[in-house]
Amino acid sequence: MSDTPAPDPSDSEKPASPLPEAASDSQEPPKKSRRDFLLGIGAGLNVVAGAMIGIPIVGFALSSFFRKKEFDWIALGPSEKYPQGQTRLATFKNPLMREWAGETAQMPCWVRHDTSGDFTVFDIHCTHLGCPVRWFQESKLFMCPCHGGVYYEDGSRASGPPPRGLYQIKHEVREDGMLYIYAGDIPSLANQSV
Ligand code: FES
Repeated sequence: MSDTPAPDPSDSEKPASPLPEAASDSQEPPKKSRRDFLLGIGAGLNVVAGAMIGIPIVGFALSSFFRKKEFDWIALGPSEKYPQGQTRLATFKNPLMREWAGETAQMPCWVRHDTSGDFTVFDIHCTHLGCPVRWFQESKLFMCPCHGGVYYEDGSRASGPPPRGLYQIKHEVREDGMLYIYAGDIPSLANQSV
């Protein structure tokens, strides 16, 4: 006869004991909720939007520190290209423009080669509101098509709303016979190349 006690029939009805809670936590990382996911997306979009607005503003604020110089020497071609006693239109590439500016980087100016052999280079912009002036050889006048401003052949004001004569552009004829101008920004009272 054995001393082993008979199994209690009520034990088979008890459920298997679950794993300790701490052990199950260490194996499965906590799942992120849908709300956390959407919050993360929202925060990311805020960062992108902030960068899109902030970077151009900061760039504009700092641009003056990195801006190229406002004027530079530019060749306008051989001086013989401009006959004595004539005023001719010339164009040059603005040194301030970016590569992608294309045709808009081309700036016109008027080159006067007078009968005494001296050159004068005029900025093409009317000193009233900046329209390009045209030269009329017959009348020897510069005229502005916008509001009727008129200038004499030496660029001084003749009539109309312009408050002063045309701006002149510093220039020189070098030993190689090339005409150079010191040009860049559109001249103004605060920003003249002469
Ligand atoms: S812009 Fe030339 S007269 Fe006004």
